[in-house]
Amino acid sequence: MNVFITRVIPESGLRLLEAAGLKIKQWTQQRNMTREELIAECQWADALLSAGQRLDRDFLEASAHLKVIALHSVGYDNVAIETATRLKIPVGNTPGVLSGATADTAFLLMMAAARNAFYMNRKIINGEWDFFEPTANLGKELNGCTLGVFGLGKIGTEMAKRCAGAFGMKIIYHNRSRNEEAENLLDAELVSFEELLAQSDVLTVHTALTAETEGKFNRTAFKQMKPGSIFINTARGSIHNEADLMEALESKTIWGAGLDVTNPEPMHPDNRLLFMPNVAVLPHIGSATEGTRNAMARLAAENIIAVSKGEKPPFLVNPEVYKEG
Ligand code: DGY
Repeated sequence: MNVFITRVIPESGLRLLEAAGLKIKQWTQQRNMTREELIAECQWADALLSAGQRLDRDFLEASAHLKVIALHSVGYDNVAIETATRLKIPVGNTPGVLSGATADTAFLLMMAAARNAFYMNRKIINGEWDFFEPTANLGKELNGCTLGVFGLGKIGTEMAKRCAGAFGMKIIYHNRSRNEEAENLLDAELVSFEELLAQSDVLTVHTALTAETEGKFNRTAFKQMKPGSIFINTARGSIHNEADLMEALESKTIWGAGLDVTNPEPMHPDNRLLFMPNVAVLPHIGSATEGTRNAMARLAAENIIAVSKGEKPPFLVNPEVYKEG
């Protein structure tokens, strides 16, 4: 099988593909491919390993010969999954392996927002570290606070473990269905969305982007959040409304925010959020550790290798592809 890869990916994935006897071609330019370039490159390919590339309906229809698409991500909101399923193209992702690293990033953002850390660092760079003021630069302490998790799955559970362990935080969560394992492990309590907003001192988002979650954190939601609370999003930027978040921060409806994801990405360097004291923004680096990125590359390769052997990808997001009829 011929495999086209849309970015330079970690060695561990490449080695697995090569060891399985597959032919590889990688896009090495430091920019996203256009849809037309991707369609042209995929003419040669039987399998596509896609990192960060949008795979829309037009691309999929022009590439219906693909036997498998392996994503180098757990999220698959940038793929027209229904079209892939209709065309009988299995799509694989990389669940589980990035939960710890992403939760670390959420925890870092929570701490940075609570202590104005990124803003304070910029003050040093700007030559504004002058005299000691006992009443200035005051942050928030998190000991004994309540953590509200919107989407208590694998990543949310890892974040909750860190917050319970470090600060004895009480854990509440809002999910479509109960997570009994996490309830037993963390004494977590399932609450309504309104209760989550009203009770969380830190509200952290760990859900997939779907039609249901898109824009969920809007003006109405921010207004119901606990005064003095911190909003964290390491999932997808479209889950919060950026203008509404800015308004909530500027009117001090909420205290701070930590974002690893924005809408659009990249965020414009003049964005007001970057200059607010209680806001910490990172450029979507949730899974960016050497170990995690290598593990993701391996899972993506395994999804392709399975199909090359006539098997189902082990991490499949559209199992309907294999249903008869
Ligand atoms: C994921 O795996 O979905 C991360 O957000 C990286 O895109």
